[in-house]
Amino acid sequence: MKRLAVLGHPVGHSRSPAMQSAALAELGLGDWTYEAIDVAPDEFEGKVREMAAGEWVGANVTVPHKGAALAVADDLSEVAREVGAANTLHFEEGRIHAYNTDAKGLLTLLPEPVEGSRALVLGAGGAARAVVWALVRSGAEVDVWNRTELRSQNLCEDLGGAPVSDPDQEAYDLIANTTAVGLRGEDPFAELPLDADGFRPEQLVIDLVYSDRPTALLSAAKERGSETIDGLAVLVAQGAVSLRIWTEREPPLETMRQAARSGGDGPR
Ligand code: ATR
Repeated sequence: MKRLAVLGHPVGHSRSPAMQSAALAELGLGDWTYEAIDVAPDEFEGKVREMAAGEWVGANVTVPHKGAALAVADDLSEVAREVGAANTLHFEEGRIHAYNTDAKGLLTLLPEPVEGSRALVLGAGGAARAVVWALVRSGAEVDVWNRTELRSQNLCEDLGGAPVSDPDQEAYDLIANTTAVGLRGEDPFAELPLDADGFRPEQLVIDLVYSDRPTALLSAAKERGSETIDGLAVLVAQGAVSLRIWTEREPPLETMRQAARSGGDGPR
């Protein structure tokens, strides 16, 4: 058996098991499995070490373990080190390698050319760090807004970009929501510095919140004619990069998209 898992706390809502299991089946990898495991923070390190010593090939790591995943690893990819978080672990001969496929996956979704475009990132958590890394690396001019300004200042010191407190929504070519706003039905236009009617057709709007229906943020953007990328597309993109690391096979993207859209039981 070759075992894979997603480690989170909670993790029952994750669509990765449906998505990755469908991909493994499509690739004919019948002896591979992918499951969700709820691991409390104080058990995370022990669990990962036990997995690395056993029959496990790797794991995805989600909230709240992305920082701990970095700390437990023997080797870090350059991206994981720069972003300061890891969402993918690969076990080889007892060694633990850590990657950040959130950032790598996002790069595969960004339209060309990002270079020279103006981007606004909302949020300053782990997801924001991956997004800012991908955008700065692609040559975008990145502004970062966060409810708690000290966090956006710290993020920009680490990764580049400039903290903003009162962004001009219309000035940006790309706007990415990496905050948790919308996850539990919060009104993005009450919590974030955006107006529902402030989007433009030339803009690309990305919402990392994933849900079966378009989020209120993406609905408003679409209504104004903006291009949109939803959280499920981002989930599939990171999952595909992770799957390639573990299996060295080409990920079946369409199968993964369909399984991610129909799997799971609600928002992230
Ligand atoms: P993740 O790793 O998923 O990014 P996180 O580190 O908990 O998770 O970050 C959550 C982000 O959502 C933060 O930017 C947080 O803002 P604060 O740093 O001010 O806490 C943001 N967030 C959560 N709820 C929010 C709300 N109601 N309004 C604005 N921002 C919110």
